[in-house]
Amino acid sequence: MRRLSSVTVVDVFLVIALLCCSSWKVWSITLCKETNLEKVRPHSVSITEFGAVGDGITLNTKAFQNAIFYLNSFSDKGGAKLFVPAGRWLTGSFDLISHLTLWLDKDAIILGSTNSEDWPIVDPLPSYGRGRELPGARHRSLIYGSNLTDVIITGNEGIIDGQGSIWWSKFRNKTLDYTRPHLVELMNSAGILISNLTFLNSPFWTIHPVYCSQVTVQNVTILAPLDSPNTDGIDPDSSDDVCIEDCYISTGDDLIAIKSGWDEYGIAFGRPSTNIIIHRLVGKTQVSAGIAIGSEMSGGVSNIHAQDILFYDSYTAIRIKTSPGRGGYVRNIYVSNMTLTNVDIAIRFTGLYGDHPDDGYDQNALPVIEKITIEDVKGDNIKKAGLIEGIEGDNFVDICLSNIILNVSSNYPWNCSNVRGYSDTVSPEACEPLKERIFPDHCSDCYHLSNHQQSSNDKKRGGSFTSW
Ligand SMILES: *[C@@H]1O[C@H](CO)[C@@H](O)[C@H](O)[C@H]1NC(C)=O
Ligand SMILES: *[C@@H]1O[C@H](CO)[C@@H](O)[C@H](O)[C@H]1NC(C)=O
Ligand SMILES: *[C@@H]1O[C@H](CO)[C@@H](O)[C@H](O)[C@H]1NC(C)=O
Ligand SMILES: *[C@@H]1O[C@H](CO)[C@@H](O)[C@H](O)[C@H]1NC(C)=O
Ligand SMILES: *[C@@H]1O[C@H](CO)[C@@H](O)[C@H](O)[C@H]1NC(C)=O
Ligand SMILES: *[C@@H]1O[C@H](CO)[C@@H](O)[C@H](O)[C@H]1NC(C)=O
Ligand SMILES: *[C@@H]1O[C@H](CO)[C@@H](O)[C@H](O)[C@H]1NC(C)=O
Repeated sequence: MRRLSSVTVVDVFLVIALLCCSSWKVWSITLCKETNLEKVRPHSVSITEFGAVGDGITLNTKAFQNAIFYLNSFSDKGGAKLFVPAGRWLTGSFDLISHLTLWLDKDAIILGSTNSEDWPIVDPLPSYGRGRELPGARHRSLIYGSNLTDVIITGNEGIIDGQGSIWWSKFRNKTLDYTRPHLVELMNSAGILISNLTFLNSPFWTIHPVYCSQVTVQNVTILAPLDSPNTDGIDPDSSDDVCIEDCYISTGDDLIAIKSGWDEYGIAFGRPSTNIIIHRLVGKTQVSAGIAIGSEMSGGVSNIHAQDILFYDSYTAIRIKTSPGRGGYVRNIYVSNMTLTNVDIAIRFTGLYGDHPDDGYDQNALPVIEKITIEDVKGDNIKKAGLIEGIEGDNFVDICLSNIILNVSSNYPWNCSNVRGYSDTVSPEACEPLKERIFPDHCSDCYHLSNHQQSSNDKKRGGSFTSW
């Protein structure tokens, strides 16, 4: 009799789990959908047909511009491919066009000019109101595109090297004239694939899709010295349907930073970052985070799914940065299956990040931070498990931690303030404000797949979350 009733209890437990939490792991099957992959372009030219010289000395900006101008005539005929053969192709900034494949062959290296005049000045982004580092305009990225569709940047072990050290020195010795350029920036564009390449030494953030949709970054390596300033890896900014898969990133700042505009400018522009998948990411960063959200998040950030992550020799793994004045929200964030080795702080939320574009920000514009789930994390040689600081009078809520096992050296593994949430199977045991159990009462307060499927079905995106 006794035995029977204990079986019944187990059954009930399973049924509840099935209804409530068990679908957390189901979504991992479909990830980046490769829409424009392997697109055959009916026309192809080599950069050498436009007078380019791959000696690492000759400046080839005009050759890139002329080749792309020529290829524009094929954009309504299935598009075209610009082939970059083996060689060292020095260039200044150039613009891409729609229906273009930029293809770097084995041993092809595109080198960014070390003369800042080859990186022209452009307007600041409306969602930032000014350059990110300095008021006013900013330098244009080496590879730039705006208002485009169907663009592929790919190849066979090719390299795009920003030769950023000149910019890093100017940053350090405070002689920059304008905000530093990104290595690749695509703006107001849709249907972007960046794959199978290595990106080196960006002057500033490396890959910056801003106001974009349907962006896939797959199988890329991004490297910059661990002490190079602000060399973020990939920064999806006010962009949706972004999938980042199978990447290795080691840089001097955040490996991936999801953003959506800055204070009053970001609030007014009002374009969120949403539906972003990060899958199979490996990397390290000595001063920053593996995956960061913010600090610019004023247009809102939601529906971020990160899984199968490995960070080592790093400062922080998961970081949310925000501040009074930002407004906006960060919600529906799901991180699972993360392995950490030699990481100072596994989870860090900072509610008082500060850092404002000007004095015009609204101190009362408080960000809403809610529904953040982190589960299945293993960590070895971790200094601190969590430093989780919300904003006084603006608690970060529904923070859920499940199955997080860390080998922590600090006597104070968790410090939490102005947050509220739940946890199950967390070692060392979570801080007081997160100690209440998830199961069974708070399952529905925690963001996970079943909530997510609900909302994607509501939106009728024509299939699963990842299909675009
Ligand atoms: C690019 O798209 C933006 C947003 O849709 C629009 O405001 C702008 O005028 C477009 N620019 C050009 C050059 O077409
Ligand atoms: C990743 O990219 C490299 C070129 O950088 C290529 O050799 C390799 O086959 C790619 N791997 C996959 C799985 O696509
Ligand atoms: C700052 O660094 C740049 C780039 O290395 C260099 O050209 C410039 O002379 C330096 N300026 C000062 C004041 O040190
Ligand atoms: C990367 O390269 C590999 C090997 O050439 C190829 O099979 C794969 O389709 C490419 N992937 C992308 C996303 O371009
Ligand atoms: C977790 O991620 C690692 C890569 O970091 C991967 O090898 C492993 O298969 C993943 N585990 C599950 C259960 O998906
Ligand atoms: C935790 O780390 C210490 C120090 O590095 C090590 O001796 C110990 O074996 C680790 N424990 C586990 C469970 O990994
Ligand atoms: C964490 O909490 C401990 C104990 O309450 C305190 O001594 C320490 O200063 C706190 N650390 C931080 C970084 O807030």
